This record gives sequence, structure tokens and C-alpha cells, in this order.
Amino acid sequence: MWGTLGSSSAAHAAPCGRQGLSTAIPGVSVPPPQKAPASLQQSKCRSFRPQTAASSTPRSNGVGAGAVKRRQKPVVEDVTPSDGEIVPLSSPTGASTRFKDAGPAVVAGAAGGTGKAIVQRLIQEGVPVRALVRNLSAAAAVLPGAENNVELFQGDVYKFSTLPAVLEGSQTLFIATGARPGLDPFGPYNVDYQGTLNLLAAAQQAGVTKLVLISSIGVDDVFFPLNLFFGVVFWKKRAEEAIQRSGIDYTIVRPGGLRDEPPGNEAPGRIVMEGPSSFGLPPGKRSGSILRRQVAEVAVEAAIEPGASRKVVEIITDPTAPLQSLASLFARV
Ligand SMILES: NC(=O)c1ccc[n+]([C@@H]2O[C@H](COP(=O)([O-])OP(=O)(O)OC[C@H]3O[C@@H](n4cnc5c(N)ncnc54)[C@H](OP(=O)(O)O)[C@@H]3O)[C@@H](O)[C@H]2O)c1
Repeated sequence: MWGTLGSSSAAHAAPCGRQGLSTAIPGVSVPPPQKAPASLQQSKCRSFRPQTAASSTPRSNGVGAGAVKRRQKPVVEDVTPSDGEIVPLSSPTGASTRFKDAGPAVVAGAAGGTGKAIVQRLIQEGVPVRALVRNLSAAAAVLPGAENNVELFQGDVYKFSTLPAVLEGSQTLFIATGARPGLDPFGPYNVDYQGTLNLLAAAQQAGVTKLVLISSIGVDDVFFPLNLFFGVVFWKKRAEEAIQRSGIDYTIVRPGGLRDEPPGNEAPGRIVMEGPSSFGLPPGKRSGSILRRQVAEVAVEAAIEPGASRKVVEIITDPTAPLQSLASLFARV
């Protein structure tokens, strides 16, 4: 998909690739190349173009690549893209340019299943990550480090004072925290409600412009079975409402049951996206599951996709669903 295109680093092995791709026209004689001053050569390196396998490997002529006679290349003014030029999605370093100038993105709950997947996805997009975690050493064991532009910050969403430092200078916040099922009756209230409110307040103080919350299907249904776990989806819904009232640009992503891998050896299903209250428990509603990495794909896309702005989306997968871009899935909701 487009995300994969955007993260292709091999495509940019050679800077100033357009000059290397200039082709001689058979039968037309051209003057030999003239050497330009070094400063001018530098200034011409303004645009880059992905090198395809066809353009980077010698063409076979049936005799052997070494036997291909090289033609003289014409000198061309090469400072603006031609009509047919492919505009790169990636920077010359291989990183995607889709998050250009957005600064570091904060991921709360970064050491959790979905949080880790969001961190990975952001790395693919070339976005520096600030990972908010409760336990630094445990997180360091499961998350990429400084070599991937990932910085760890210790914090607890229930303790507001631990949050401003991680959000300072950031424009994007992903919330993938969640109380783990257990015996703490205050877990869902503290983490899924009060914790999210604390993150929201700290984000607003820091000037964050986009917030993506991982919530859950079933939050509109007070009888949803997960509410037996100390009202977890009830409190998630209250946090959603606070975000919607806050004025910040948001996307609320409500996944179905989360998995790390598809059952058996099945291929992952395709993402199905609908508006609020679409999925739930049969027979009244359609149930479904989704891989955490697919949730991460949706969440990261939501941060830059205009069609995801101020939307609540529910997502599951279906192997028979048509393949659609995330932009068109968001546009339908
Ligand atoms: N499981 C499902 O089937 C399902 C379905 C729909 C929606 N969801 C929701 O989707 C989200 C992601 O689920 P997941 O299963 O990927 O998550 P997860 O693996 O349980 O991770 C949750 C993360 O939240 C962090 N966390 C908990 N309390 C915190 C606190 N007070 N301060 C800071 N961090 C805190 C945990 O930190 P530690 O690493 O320190 O424990 C953990 O990293 C959750 O909101 C979940 O409720 C889950």
C-alpha cells in the first residue's frame, strides 16, 4: 500500500538519481558531457526519484551485462521535475516524508501490544518516537532504541505530573494504554478514564494538534460483557466523550478483539471500517477481530489523513472484504 511505498529505503540509494537515469536517444548524436563546477552540481541535486530494479541493474542483451556499450549522455538542465517524473514519497534518507515537520510523536502505552505496533509503524514512517512507559528497563527489552529514534520516558497516566515532559514539543499523541484485566476495581477508572483525561490535559497544554485514541468496540453498549470487568468500556466511552468535547483534532479507533497473529496459518483479513455502534456481539451485531499491527496501521494513518479528522471508527477484518486504501475507508465513515 502507500505506506509501504513511503518507507522504501532501497529506492534512494543514489542521490541525484535523475541524472543517472537520463537516456540517450538512438541515432541522435549528442555532445560529450561537460563538467560543471562542483557548486553547481550540488545545487542541481534538488529532486530524487526511486530507482527501480529495471533502472538500477544492467539490461540483459543476451550476451552478458558487461557487453552493453555505454552511450554518451546528453547534458540536461535538471533542476525541476519533468511532467512524467515520479514524485517521491520518501526523503533521500529513505524515511517517509508524510509526517514532515510534525516533530516526535508520543505513544502512551508503548510497551503494550498495540503500543509496540504503533511504535514500529512510526519508525517505518521515519517519525521520531517518544515512548511513554511505566517500567523503563522492561520497555527497553521490548522496544527499539535510540538507533531507531525511539526515546523512552517513564510515566504513569494516573499521575499527571509525569506527563508534561514527554509531550513537550510534540504535535501528535497516540493513546494505547489500557487497564489489564485483574482484580483492581479501580483499574479501568484510573487508566481508561482518568489516565486518558490526564493525557488529554497534558497534550492540550503542550500544544498537541492531533490525538489518536485506541478504544474498543462495544463502548456504546452498557451491557457489553467487558463491563463486567469493572466497567472498562463504560469508562472508555466517558474518556472518548471528553476528547470529543475538548476541541482537539482526534480520531477514535475502536478495534474488535485484538490478536497478534491470525488463527492457524490464515492470511490476515482485510480491514473493514464502519462508524460508531456498528460492531458488537451477535446476534444483534456483527463481531470480529483484527491484528494489532493493522490497528497500528489505521492509527498512524489517522494522524495524517484529513478524512480521519474528528471521527470515531470501528474496525475488524474480513478475508472477503474488498481491498481499499485507508483513505477511502476513512472517507466512507
Ligand atoms: N484485548 C482486546 O481484545 C481489546 C479489544 C479492543 C480494544 N482493546 C483496547 O485496546 C488498547 C490496546 O490493547 P492491548 O491489548 O494492545 O494493550 P496491552 O498489551 O494490555 O497494553 C496496555 C498498555 O497500557 C499500559 N498502562 C496500563 N496502565 C498504565 C498507566 N497507569 N500508566 C501508563 N501506562 C499504563 C501498560 O503498561 P505496562 O506495560 O507497564 O503494563 C501497557 O503497556 C487497550 O485500551 C485495550 O483496552 C483491547
